[in-house]
Amino acid sequence: MIQDSNVDPKNSTSCPAKVHRLGLIGCGWVLPFHLRALRQLSDRARVVWVADPARERAEKAASEIGVKALTDYHAGLDEVDAAFVLVPHHLHHPVTLDCLRAGLDVLVEKPLAVTLDQADEMIETADRLGRVLMVAYPHRYRRSMRLLKQAIEGGRYGRLIMLDAMMDESLRGYALGWLAKKATLGGGLFFSASPHMLDVLFWIGGEVKSLSMVGTHGGIPMEGEDTAASIMKFASGVIGVTRHTWASPRCRIWYTLNAMCEGAHVTLTTTPLGDLAKDGVKCAWRTRVVALGEAEEVLLESDEGLEMQPEDAHFLDCLGDRRRPETDGRAARRIMELVFQAYREAAC
Ligand SMILES: NC(=O)c1ccc[n+]([C@@H]2O[C@H](COP(=O)([O-])OP(=O)(O)OC[C@H]3O[C@@H](n4cnc5c(N)ncnc54)[C@H](O)[C@@H]3O)[C@@H](O)[C@H]2O)c1
Repeated sequence: MIQDSNVDPKNSTSCPAKVHRLGLIGCGWVLPFHLRALRQLSDRARVVWVADPARERAEKAASEIGVKALTDYHAGLDEVDAAFVLVPHHLHHPVTLDCLRAGLDVLVEKPLAVTLDQADEMIETADRLGRVLMVAYPHRYRRSMRLLKQAIEGGRYGRLIMLDAMMDESLRGYALGWLAKKATLGGGLFFSASPHMLDVLFWIGGEVKSLSMVGTHGGIPMEGEDTAASIMKFASGVIGVTRHTWASPRCRIWYTLNAMCEGAHVTLTTTPLGDLAKDGVKCAWRTRVVALGEAEEVLLESDEGLEMQPEDAHFLDCLGDRRRPETDGRAARRIMELVFQAYREAAC
């Protein structure tokens, strides 16, 4: 039985000493970010194996952390308590179902699936089997993002009026293979990656009344749009805006979220000091949260970048407490539903 995510973890009956055994499925670009996070969480989780049909990738990742390499994850399902599903989007559904049906809890990379029917089957299966199903939307778990939300909600800067998020990414030469095809990506960039911002905006803004988008092709050879903008209106009256591209000539900022309140702009900016696509987990970062009202007030300065540690820690908390993650299947499905509706209305 999985409880709602608002259960106070301090009242949890879980055994803090439990070390969860993990299998990591998919040894591509994103894997090193989770490996770094799990090294920091080694008192709470132990990777037992990594799996990838590309043998050399599985063996390279396995040798770096001293675990077993599998070319077929099915062979390891009975050796672990939970799995991370880090595979192309069209495979999220079959791989997640295999894991849930084998009795595992699952952290699946975003998006949950590529169709709503798939999403429904995954949610229903997790519910019926009493498994934790979490979707990896890392940004809301980041320390800087938590601070930004607290600063807005603390009321010190007055009522929130508008949220404006931008992701500026340069994926020339990287958005190839499954990333370039609608059938395997599930859509364009607005489906694949803009939900990083949508998740945070929905988390801060609350109930969404409407979402619309426009997309275009900025030069990345992919079937779906590589550049998109959206506007949304929340039940509270707050307006939200996203701007996002994979076709940037140069990624200057990567991620910035500006909350315009009555008394100040409160802005989170995360800037790579290298080339994120090329450097991956080795990329260094600078993150700032600043309130700009009468004067400039620096709320946070740190080297935080694309950190998976807070997100992975939340997943482990949910395993221990048997509670629903904040970014559970339903939250991720709601994003998909709104994105598909916005696509239909934009005829894009
Ligand atoms: N949270 C983030 O910021 C972030 C960033 C990048 C990617 N992602 C997500 O991570 C996932 C993977 O993306 P990526 O960039 O690592 O892709 P990738 O193409 O670099 O790696 C995918 C890997 O999955 C492997 N694979 C394919 N079928 C498999 C199977 N049946 N079993 C095991 N492995 C299999 C491929 O061989 C490949 O090595 C996607 O869902 C993507 O959206 C998230």
